[in-house]
Amino acid sequence: MPIAAIAADFHRRFGHEPLLVRAPGRINLIGEHTDYNDGLVLPAAINKEIFFAVGLNGSDTVRLVSFDKADAYDVAVADVAPSKHLWANYLLGVVAQFQKHGVAVPGFDCVFGGNVPMGAGMSSSAAIECGLAFALNELLHTGFDRMTLAKMGQQAEHTYAGVMSGLMDQFASLHGRAGHVVRLDCRSFDYEYFPFAADQYHLVLCNSGVKHSLASSEYNKRRQECTQGVAVLQKTHPEIKSLRDATLAQVEAAHDAMGDVVYRRCRYVVQENQRVQEACDALKANDMAAVGQAMFGSHAGLRDDYQVSCPELDALVEMARPLPGVLGARMMGGGFGGCTINLVAVAEVDAFVAAMEKAFELRYHDKLETYHTVIVGGVSELRDATVAA
Ligand code: GLA
Repeated sequence: MPIAAIAADFHRRFGHEPLLVRAPGRINLIGEHTDYNDGLVLPAAINKEIFFAVGLNGSDTVRLVSFDKADAYDVAVADVAPSKHLWANYLLGVVAQFQKHGVAVPGFDCVFGGNVPMGAGMSSSAAIECGLAFALNELLHTGFDRMTLAKMGQQAEHTYAGVMSGLMDQFASLHGRAGHVVRLDCRSFDYEYFPFAADQYHLVLCNSGVKHSLASSEYNKRRQECTQGVAVLQKTHPEIKSLRDATLAQVEAAHDAMGDVVYRRCRYVVQENQRVQEACDALKANDMAAVGQAMFGSHAGLRDDYQVSCPELDALVEMARPLPGVLGARMMGGGFGGCTINLVAVAEVDAFVAAMEKAFELRYHDKLETYHTVIVGGVSELRDATVAA
């Protein structure tokens, strides 16, 4: 039970009473690389979580402990800046955001750890950012709403981790609702919850085992390519502010002016926004076969047009496709590794996992890691270290 161990470690090291917080990782049913294009995403918070024990310490020093890495980092509040302890940067970036919002952050102690696999596309970094942002907001009574905390987490990612991410991951960690996926409009920040019929279908993740280390530089490159595409479109359509505004016909017409690579990036984003909308309509109509088809379409676009997949992810999708009870499968998250997400009929889940393990073993001579996700609520305080997780 990680929270009990984390709370005990906090007591042993610091000897005062902490606030306990859990912050979930996320899945994304569909809507990849659309968030930073003002588009639509459909994520959910899941039962892979980071736990925190955080308390003010009456000094001017921030004392951070990564329970899982068994590493500590101390810094004076006035000296908070990106550090060589990469794990600490997600936390320090959040402290810097509070400071930027005019909060005089006092010294505090923080021990954190959990079970969100790193580099597997479940947004462990967003969970770390959002958990601390929530904890500081409580301890300092700063009254920021959850959307503001999510944006602060996103800014921490930009400034301290160097990834120019969209808002999806931090939004999902803070706004998750048990049993629901949530569509976020990344332009208006409106969101809507859709029930997910967990009694009939499961979302199973298959880990390619490829850590997405290339992801940050390629990620930022994709973002730039989208900006280039918008600049081309604006020459003939000044009203287009982002790819959210563009139609497929407008993108087609700009093919030559954009060049093939930028054209493909833009085409993918416009089509992916359509697929999110289709998936939401299908969810409302309980047409899960159509949700699954949208997922397969998403994967094809990510593989061929957006080019953020990798051979192992493609292989996992092809292994899943013919199996009984599989409605949809696709790579999930930023790409270049991490997991596929599979929409599987409940009755077939065990056979699905067994068949995937067998196929993966045959091809890669390695054991496939799978995760049965449960959709849970967003970041919350834990009142009792012994009942969590
Ligand atoms: C990463 C980013 C998100 C989003 C996804 C791709 O998870 O943090 O903002 O862009 O990639 O959909």
